[in-house]
Amino acid sequence: MKKSAPSRAPGNLKCYGSERRAMSGEALPIISDVDFGLMYRAHQARAGARAKPPAFWDDRARDFDARQRARDSYFDAFIARMDFSGCDSLIDVGCGNGALAVALAPRLKTILGVDYSPAMLDLARRRAAEAGATNVTLAPRAWEDDWSDLPRCDIAVASRSTGVMDLEPALRKLDRQAKKRVYLTASVSGRIVNPALLDALGRPPAPKIDKPDYIYVVNLLYRMGRLAKVDFIARDRAEDSRADWAGFQRNVALFLGKLSEAEAERLRAWKQHNPEAPLFERDQAHWAFISWAT
Ligand SMILES: C[S@@+](CC[C@H](N)C(=O)[O-])C[C@H]1O[C@@H](n2cnc3c(N)ncnc32)[C@H](O)[C@@H]1O
Repeated sequence: MKKSAPSRAPGNLKCYGSERRAMSGEALPIISDVDFGLMYRAHQARAGARAKPPAFWDDRARDFDARQRARDSYFDAFIARMDFSGCDSLIDVGCGNGALAVALAPRLKTILGVDYSPAMLDLARRRAAEAGATNVTLAPRAWEDDWSDLPRCDIAVASRSTGVMDLEPALRKLDRQAKKRVYLTASVSGRIVNPALLDALGRPPAPKIDKPDYIYVVNLLYRMGRLAKVDFIARDRAEDSRADWAGFQRNVALFLGKLSEAEAERLRAWKQHNPEAPLFERDQAHWAFISWAT
């Protein structure tokens, strides 16, 4: 069939079909009609996301810590983008094993790390003690909990910890908690686990829709009237593929959860036959680093 000639829209844009309708009337929503909080929740549901209990991170805490000790330039890149001027106090939400809080300890008078995973908080306590970071305190707290007893701090950070089911209230809480500035990182497009690996394990295929990423944060902050700056931190290296067997197994467990004995056996057999096969069909290349003044 012959394609109809594009009409000329203002600004000399070419437009077809639904675009032409949208240009002339009200058939399509415009961006100010969009409720990004609602859209995020709907996106999470379509991507098959479920609220993760603290046990999810308790189970992964040791592997997470071991992997982090083996690298990485991420925290240097995070800290290099922060402005500490006029700031004495900081709260780190979803502080995990405390690596960032401890690295920040020499720059601030007080640091409060909060997380809902007891195992992560134990690791953070140990890290702070090892580093002699006596100005780091830790408290059990979820994004979804009441934060009214937590101190407002000059800076609030949330590093790789905003993967909650409901993003808008989480962002508003983080914003309220900061007297001066907020810094967070969020994923840029999701990872796709190798379908052949899931098949070999006998696990169901992953949902076809990527999880929501940083672009929701940007849009929600715009609606909150915040002037967000967006930067990107390149990830050091692909997560796994040619890692040794122990490293590969650890990464699989980190992303897919503990394997049963039968699954571990199937994984070993599959890896022996496919030594070059990666854990991810598509890995995550960047973190978005988003900052704003409150
Ligand atoms: C990927 S780790 C990041 C840890 C650390 N911020 C970092 O960048 O290394 C995510 C952390 O967020 C925490 N977390 C996830 N969901 C949470 C929630 N709903 N409330 C509090 N903490 C949460 C987890 O326990 C975990 O420690």
